[in-house]
Amino acid sequence: MSQESAPRSDQAGLLPALHRLQDQLGYIPDHAIADLARTYNVSRAEVEGVIGFYHDFRRTPPGRRRLQMCRAESCQAMGADALAAHASGKLGVGFGATTADGAITLEAAYCLGNCACSPALMLDGRLYGRIDAERLDELLAEGGAA
Ligand code: FES
Repeated sequence: MSQESAPRSDQAGLLPALHRLQDQLGYIPDHAIADLARTYNVSRAEVEGVIGFYHDFRRTPPGRRRLQMCRAESCQAMGADALAAHASGKLGVGFGATTADGAITLEAAYCLGNCACSPALMLDGRLYGRIDAERLDELLAEGGAA
């Protein structure tokens, strides 16, 4: 049985550098990979491996709005899968993608700490609970994303 583990880097500064870049730009641009590899004395593939391992890192610019939908157990038990399918269908994008007009990025989250109010989501950094399809549509319409 194999277990996935975090990729190793001999340079402890790589991960914090990736986080700083993501915080500054909202994503890790292609042109930064070679610079990071050179700076931290690792291969480009190793940099890509670290980025790929951590789901929070983005390789493309995020949308103007960010919708994070909880896909963890409590929310699943309260209908999150159907809600997620509704969101994906309404926006016309899968999870991890941004609408063609750049309006919104749809992301999965794995527990937003709001289990008592499942299903939960976070929109533009604001937490919402007991969401159904109708409420989700309202939230998206309020911000001009749908
Ligand atoms: S499982 Fe969804 S908020 Fe905790």
